[in-house]
Amino acid sequence: MATATLTKKDFFTVLDDRHSVKSYDASHKMTKEEINQLLEETQKAPSAWNLQHWKFLVLENQAAKDKALPIAYGQRQVADASIVVCILADTEANKNAQPVFSSAVNKGYMPQEVMDSLIGQIEGAYQIPGMGKDQGIMNSSLAAMQLMLVAKAMDYDTCPMGGFDRQKMIDEFQIPPRYIPTMLISVGKAKEPAYPSTRFSIEEVTIWNSF
Ligand SMILES: Cc1cc2nc3c(=O)[nH]c(=O)nc-3n(C[C@H](O)[C@H](O)[C@H](O)COP(=O)(O)O)c2cc1C
Repeated sequence: MATATLTKKDFFTVLDDRHSVKSYDASHKMTKEEINQLLEETQKAPSAWNLQHWKFLVLENQAAKDKALPIAYGQRQVADASIVVCILADTEANKNAQPVFSSAVNKGYMPQEVMDSLIGQIEGAYQIPGMGKDQGIMNSSLAAMQLMLVAKAMDYDTCPMGGFDRQKMIDEFQIPPRYIPTMLISVGKAKEPAYPSTRFSIEEVTIWNSF
C-alpha cells in the first residue's frame, strides 16, 4: 500500500478536522494513485459477514460530474470537487459470500466447515424480505464514513450528499438493478471552509442501559 500521501495527523485530529465542505478548488485534480489509495483504505471498512456490500462509482471526469450536477439539484460541490464518489449499496451481497469465504479458506483463515455453515446462515437471513436492501444501505454507509475520514487523513475535504434524485442517478449512469445509490460524496480541496456545525450534548443522546 502506498502511503506517500497520507498525513501524519492523529486520528482525533482527523475527526476534528472533517467537516462537510461545499466549496472546492475546481482546478485541483486528484491523481489515479491518490484515488486508488483512498479506495483501498476505504475497503478496510467492516461489513456484516465481510460481504463488503458496496461498489464505488467514481465520477472523475468533468463530463460525468456535470451530468450529476442537475441530478444533485445543482449542488456546486458535485461539479467543482476533484471527484464525486457515488457509494452504491449491494442489495445482493449474499452472492459475495462464495468468493469472499473461498479466499479466506484458501489463505487458511477459515476452515471449510465454517464457510459452509456461514453460507447457510447468510442464505437463510437473506430470505427475510427487505434484508438485502437494509444490509446494503447499512454496510455501505460504513464505507462512506470510512472514505470521508481517509480523505481527511490524505488532506482532502468531503461532503456527503443524500440530496439527489436516486432514480435519475440510476438511469443516467446505467446502475444495474442489483445496486442502489446510498449517497454521493464530493472529494477535493476546500476553496472556502465548511459552515460550522454543532452537536447535541452526550447527555442528550445517551441512554444508559434501557429507555
Ligand atoms: C446522509 C447525509 C446526507 C447529507 N446530505 C447533504 C446534502 O445533500 N447536501 C449538503 O450540502 N450536505 C449534506 N450532508 C451534510 C450535513 O449537512 C452535515 O454532515 C451536517 O450538517 C454536519 O456538518 P459537518 O459534516 O460539517 O460536521 C449530508 C450528511 C449526511 C450524513
